[in-house]
Amino acid sequence: MPHPTQPLIIANWKSHKNEDEAYQWLKTFEEDVATFRSDLEVVIAPAFPLVPMVSEFLANDQWQKVSLAVQDISSFPAGAYTGAVAGQNLQGFEVKYAVVGHSERRRYFHETHQDVANKVDQALAAKITPIVCVDQDYVEAQASAIEAAVLTKCVVAYEPLEAIGSGNFQPIDEVREVVAQIKRVFGAVPIIYGGSVSAANVKEYLAVVDGVLVGTHSLKAAEFSQLLTAAL
Ligand code: PGA
Repeated sequence: MPHPTQPLIIANWKSHKNEDEAYQWLKTFEEDVATFRSDLEVVIAPAFPLVPMVSEFLANDQWQKVSLAVQDISSFPAGAYTGAVAGQNLQGFEVKYAVVGHSERRRYFHETHQDVANKVDQALAAKITPIVCVDQDYVEAQASAIEAAVLTKCVVAYEPLEAIGSGNFQPIDEVREVVAQIKRVFGAVPIIYGGSVSAANVKEYLAVVDGVLVGTHSLKAAEFSQLLTAAL
């Protein structure tokens, strides 16, 4: 599974959008999709029920530069785990990435570092690249729960808690320091930043990280397009 070499721009829709709203987003975005910088990899991370629809759009030629992510994956293999979505359930949808351990999962669903480590294993077993979310104070604890041999197969998303959904994006110098810390612990992995990324700051972030995870400003297709244009 090769690591991404292009900057990743990920639209994390979280638990937003029904089928109709997702369809409208995709139709609007489709008008712009061919115009973005060709070395960007755009990733859409919809809620699970929207995965088949997004996957179908992405199969069309003009969506070539766009990939599909899920926002979570089961920490167990396929089997008797009611309510869980396992790697095997995702087969056939061309899911390239799985976000694991987002702070909202840790906070509201009580996921532990070990749960997240198990999700890393399950994603990799399904040939899906895990995007492991961390905040500064548990980079070490999270990495040590993950098997050393697979650390470098991860993408790491640095998401400072206070920056998520707040408009308080973290100053670049602080991000730079944590990026160095993550590299010391995880090795030479792609590192992305998430937390109030918008068209106004995306370019600055791309100068110090390998991509961005975008929540709020990915929800409207036109706004997400603007952000991609600003990344030029
Ligand atoms: P935000 O969310 O862009 O709304 O801050 C980012 C995230 O939680 O991934």
